[in-house]
Amino acid sequence: MVLFNSRLSLTSLPTPLEALPTLSRQLGVELWIKRDDLTSPAGGGNKVRKLEFLLADADAHRATVVITLGAVQSNHCRQTALLAAKLGHEAHLVLIGEDPIDRQGNLLLDTLSGATLHFGARTLEEGRAIAQQLSETLRACGKESYLIPYGGSDSIGAQGYVAAWAELQEQAQARSLSFDCIVQASSSGGTQAGLLVGQQVYGGGGQVIGISVGPLAATLQQEVATLAGQTARALGLDSFTLPSAPTVLDQFIGPGYALLDEATLAAIRQLAQTEAILLDPVYTGKAFAGLLWLASEGRLGKRALFWHTGGAPALYNYASQLAGKQPAAA
Ligand SMILES: Cc1ncc(COP(=O)(O)O)c(C=O)c1O
Repeated sequence: MVLFNSRLSLTSLPTPLEALPTLSRQLGVELWIKRDDLTSPAGGGNKVRKLEFLLADADAHRATVVITLGAVQSNHCRQTALLAAKLGHEAHLVLIGEDPIDRQGNLLLDTLSGATLHFGARTLEEGRAIAQQLSETLRACGKESYLIPYGGSDSIGAQGYVAAWAELQEQAQARSLSFDCIVQASSSGGTQAGLLVGQQVYGGGGQVIGISVGPLAATLQQEVATLAGQTARALGLDSFTLPSAPTVLDQFIGPGYALLDEATLAAIRQLAQTEAILLDPVYTGKAFAGLLWLASEGRLGKRALFWHTGGAPALYNYASQLAGKQPAAA
């Protein structure tokens, strides 16, 4: 039996499972898409599924304040700040980087959420230390805070994607579909870890391929495997074993995390112009560039799924590169 943690209902589920007929004809592979970009509220994306579990845990700890951290354009921070506000929590975001002159994209939405923004951390490690210090300072003022890790990726947050795998299987079975590959953007690893645990628990085939948007493959593989093991144990699945090492590809990172290159730009244009679906420059555009490459190599099998994890608000932060007024990296 799977013993999920308690969960809030913060979005309407299931998200749509849609065919991509035009692109399938172009690529010669039957392609489907799982629309987690259409989760609501707060601009959508994969973090809402994690936050359903994490914010329930914050309630269980009687926390009135939520703290999290991420990049200045973090989708995770945007969704956490807005959902925390909706639930009546005070929110603090520790942002790695400086406050830009012009607040665009996710950062603009963070500002609208009313969260307190703490800029200036130079590294993730520094961000973690600042978040910890903040939590202690708030406690000294009599406020109980709940610290959500980077990307919402721990054994509680990842349960959102264990449940999401079950949701996909139900939809796929209703249409007599099975997938040879499932491709998704991977960064802090919680989404991929949750999917892999879900696959073990609920069955359903397909190679889950994480396209890294920052970490090198060996590092992310290790993180996903560790997180999958922790998540399985949190669910009471003591005999859980990963079928094999998680598949992570790192050749689509391009010039670096959040740096837009030509391959990503082409992928964003291709999906917009064939299926009217928007990707983002930091996560899903890179993952989709990976999927296009896998298709060109004949490595997607007969039928593949792209798990769209959201991120479109960040598009507006890259306006000049997307509009061709400033070059993307080669
Ligand atoms: C749009 C989007 N896709 C994918 C990811 C990666 O998910 P994970 O951090 O669970 O690997 C993120 C993480 O921030 C994201 O914002």
